[in-house]
Amino acid sequence: METNKKPGNWRARTLAVRGGQARSPFQETSEGLFLTSGYAYDSATQAQGRFTGEDEGYQYTRFSNPTIDTFEARMAALEGAPVARATASGMAAVSTALLAGVSSGDHVVAAKAMFGSCRTVIAEILPRFGVTHTLVDGGDLNAWREAMRPNTRMLFLETPSNPTLDIVDIRQVAAIADERGARLIVDNAFASPALQRPMELGAHIVVHSTTKWIDGQGRCLGGVILCHEDFLKDHLQSFIRNTGPVMSPFNAWVHLKSLETLDLRMRAHCANALAVAEFLSGRKQVRRVIYPFLPSHPRHVLAQAQMSGGGGVVSFEVEGGKQGAFALQDALALIDISNNLGDAKSLITHPETTTHSKLPPEARAELGIAPGLLRLSVGLEDAADICDDLERALAAV
Ligand SMILES: Cc1ncc(COP(=O)(O)O)c(C=O)c1O
Repeated sequence: METNKKPGNWRARTLAVRGGQARSPFQETSEGLFLTSGYAYDSATQAQGRFTGEDEGYQYTRFSNPTIDTFEARMAALEGAPVARATASGMAAVSTALLAGVSSGDHVVAAKAMFGSCRTVIAEILPRFGVTHTLVDGGDLNAWREAMRPNTRMLFLETPSNPTLDIVDIRQVAAIADERGARLIVDNAFASPALQRPMELGAHIVVHSTTKWIDGQGRCLGGVILCHEDFLKDHLQSFIRNTGPVMSPFNAWVHLKSLETLDLRMRAHCANALAVAEFLSGRKQVRRVIYPFLPSHPRHVLAQAQMSGGGGVVSFEVEGGKQGAFALQDALALIDISNNLGDAKSLITHPETTTHSKLPPEARAELGIAPGLLRLSVGLEDAADICDDLERALAAV
């Protein structure tokens, strides 16, 4: 299949609709869904050629697939990345990017404010393979510098982080990685490429849980790794082909259709989230509200410099600790209690007892995951209805 339209200087919103599209001879307008595991060859010689690399073409969907290729090309265009590889989930993207890039004896430095499973990969799984780590306060540039060792290969950070919405200076941390010949991986799941493009700020690798804002409607798990050609060639390609954490073509197709509306959706999510954050800020039952685009956020200026919108997640701490947080959730009528995020439907979760429940209590306390903290993924419903629901539920706190 050929890419029939040449991207030229298309802007991001056009790339989100058109990027990477390769039409089959049927000239379909919507992207084709190639739900196939294998490909037939014209001859035994052609099959052999595919495996030696002399004959370009598809071999097996664990290696590549036209629908997945289109999704990868579109994601790469949106992130401004040379190449992309789609994975079965966000955690497959995080763990593959890390594992493919390190060997026994290497060292990783990571910002400690991150999703619970990312921390498990770095602090529990990598050490089993002889890879050590140092966790730092992501906002403390000296801590990053001091943590670097001659064997540091990878730096990892999430910005905004899950669930405390910490903002880390991507440009500065990327410069520290560059000084020492290491690579910085940025988990961009909370912002999506519609709001933040870490590679333009110097990140070497970007990972996403496409399950979140990229799918946008809570249907399909997925992930993606965006990087430079050399990382793909020297580390990722063989790792992915042989360990097989690949995305299903069906999920790639759903995500492709989602990308067409990503920009529109993210603008609406950001507007709703800001309205909800402002509404919560004035309530007596609410101890603190965390939202990157509120002036009360400690890194508000940096957030506005590196993101074009505050994102769709608002975290807030209610009075009464866990009891208060549970009472609020149980009193909601519109917002669903769910640990997913990035859906058209508003979803709320209590990180202490769900997404971050496996962390030791001291680690949660250090990250600011208080017993009264709630993470709200603000959906696309009318903001007034979301605020009304919260208003009613706050009365139960
Ligand atoms: C920041 C971040 N990274 C990675 C993941 C993992 O994504 P997935 O659930 O698609 O494996 C999540 C999931 O919540 C997340 O919030």
